[in-house]
Amino acid sequence: MFDFDKVSPALKDRAKYQENKWTRCTNGEIPMFVADMDFQTPQPIIDAIKERMEHPFFGYNSVASNAIPVIAQHYRDKYHCQCEEEWIVFVPSVMPGVNVGCLVGGGSVMYCDPMYMHIRKVADEIGVPEVSVPLKIENGKYTFDFDAMEAAYTPDIKSFILCSPHNPVGRVWTREELQGLYDFCRRHDILLVADEIHCEIILEGTHIPAFTICDDAVDHTITVSSAGKICNIPGLPIGFAIIPNKELREKFIKNTKALFSTRGNLLYGIAIKKAYDGSCEQWKEELRQYLRGNAKYVEERIAAMPFVSVNHNEATYLAWIDCTELPYEEPAKFFEEKAKVIVNPGSGFGAGKFVRLNFGCPRSQLKEALDRMERALKAVEV
Ligand SMILES: Cc1ncc(COP(=O)(O)O)c(C=O)c1O
Repeated sequence: MFDFDKVSPALKDRAKYQENKWTRCTNGEIPMFVADMDFQTPQPIIDAIKERMEHPFFGYNSVASNAIPVIAQHYRDKYHCQCEEEWIVFVPSVMPGVNVGCLVGGGSVMYCDPMYMHIRKVADEIGVPEVSVPLKIENGKYTFDFDAMEAAYTPDIKSFILCSPHNPVGRVWTREELQGLYDFCRRHDILLVADEIHCEIILEGTHIPAFTICDDAVDHTITVSSAGKICNIPGLPIGFAIIPNKELREKFIKNTKALFSTRGNLLYGIAIKKAYDGSCEQWKEELRQYLRGNAKYVEERIAAMPFVSVNHNEATYLAWIDCTELPYEEPAKFFEEKAKVIVNPGSGFGAGKFVRLNFGCPRSQLKEALDRMERALKAVEV
């Protein structure tokens, strides 16, 4: 059993190795922002990479393509769905896959705020207009506002970017919600491009891959995912698209040609095979269990703090904290200056008075960050 409470002795060297989350901490700050975890990568991945790095040749190879059957089998086993090897196309990482998915859609892009900051930049990056529609809160949960989406629809919209599960609000979309979204897309001939990078960090509920929403969805969806989050290897980096429809797949590959290679690379091939061949399953389950404990701890601690409240996480290790009551315009700046805790500002997600806190770390680190935040909040004078 992996001890997630144990602080890795290698953690202190993350800044030395130029890992972004820790290089920002030059003055004793605790980094609770960049979405990677302060747990070591599962040992089977480290061992497989080490073993291969001992061999002093790095020539053309079929390591990544040989990992494709393992990914397809993982989807069949985990989601009880059809998943053919030829449906899988490697991308350098998830975001380029989402960008190209939207190029395939071919028109304006729609998504729902609050939303992961790089998804909010896709339209700009591919040079098309965008329409963002806020999620609504129903029975205390964020959900799609289909009436607002209908009202915002214009015929130039050709792609919808779904984040499933959702970063930053931590929702695991239900089949009913996904079906509603899919029906909206079909009604308007919009391509559903699903970013499912967090799909294995499910704390409650069941993840439904976009291409399995209903029988018809195999023909009208592009799903992009990766083992980057679950196995804590986003620096490798790694990503793949699942595109069952041949015509869409060919368009996708054609659109990648001027941009990047889809053959994957050596490190990526080694890591992704180990991530999905069963070697890391026990570690993943133990991680999820630990993160459930951290999510509960965050909820309990935030509930006892003034000015802030936190959304309930069904997925991800990212807590979405409402700071609207805090008398400061930039809550993330407040936490960095007064608590020495670095969180993501909500402005990047389209919600200025929120912050996102990463709880993918040992409990002791989380406790220290929350202690500091609580002290800073209690010292606020109104
Ligand atoms: C929803 C979402 N998509 C994509 C990414 C980035 O993926 P990649 O680094 O593989 O491009 C992240 C990273 O935090 C994310 O949260």
